[in-house]
Amino acid sequence: MSLLEVRDLRHAFYRVPVLNGVDFSVEAHEFAGLVGPNGAGKSTLYNAISGLFIPDAGTVTFDGHDITRMTPHERVALGLVRTFQMARGFPKLTVFQNLMLYAQDNLGEGLLASLFGSRTGKQAEEAAAAEALAIAHRLRLDHVIDNPLTALSGGQKKLVEIGRALMARPKMILLDEPMAGVNPTLTQQIADHLRGLNADGITICLIEHDMPLIGQLCNPVTVLAEGRTLMKGTFDAVISNLDVQEAYLGARKEHA
Ligand SMILES: Nc1ncnc2c1ncn2[C@@H]1O[C@H](COP(=O)(O)OP(=O)(O)OP(=O)(O)O)[C@@H](O)[C@H]1O
Ligand SMILES: [Mg+2]
Repeated sequence: MSLLEVRDLRHAFYRVPVLNGVDFSVEAHEFAGLVGPNGAGKSTLYNAISGLFIPDAGTVTFDGHDITRMTPHERVALGLVRTFQMARGFPKLTVFQNLMLYAQDNLGEGLLASLFGSRTGKQAEEAAAAEALAIAHRLRLDHVIDNPLTALSGGQKKLVEIGRALMARPKMILLDEPMAGVNPTLTQQIADHLRGLNADGITICLIEHDMPLIGQLCNPVTVLAEGRTLMKGTFDAVISNLDVQEAYLGARKEHA
């Protein structure tokens, strides 16, 4: 069985269908790509997989568990995390504080206990702090670790978003355009970080509009269009597929 498996997912918002029977799967240790035109339903699919809403129909399984109706927290606890297209986090808190906040998901009671001075709580807090420092170091955020998010560049905020996901010690990360709006040098740095995480055993799914980047990083690639899975294959198979080309042009060719 695949690590992540989505079957016949359907959902309408205010009676407007957005997911029209999505089938999607990612194998353990893959670096998968998810592409499709604007409005195809890619972020909405991530929202359903991560539990931001419960779909009208269909199933989502992760690591052998039916997670279709689980809370977002329960999914994170299983090792499934996601990043957001618009970087989130607490703008006035520092990078370190932002990372520590997400350790709570992991260590919840331990961190709470630390407020009351218990020894296990202190240990949990120290472990989380060490992890936050290690993640900041890995993402080369050391020099800005005590800066508030508002003082960071757009690209650095994207790195914090990835760091936040790593604090949950994930088995799999769903990335929603982590390089969008980032300069080419930092884009390559983020790509290198993602490759490193994948080499360390973290399964990755990447939504990205930059096709050369998808070609460089992802295999296989799934194409979503109008809330349906159009195809799944290698990057070369996807870009040479006529249905995919037509979906991107936004109009079906008339066949005489
Ligand atoms: N909560 C919601 N309420 C109403 N409509 C929604 C909601 N969430 C998504 N939609 C609609 O679903 C469609 C798909 O949106 P989605 O954000 O998933 O597209 P996308 O493939 O991620 O596009 P992009 O590449 O531009 O990010 C859009 O028409 C959007 O307006
Ligand atoms: Mg999107």
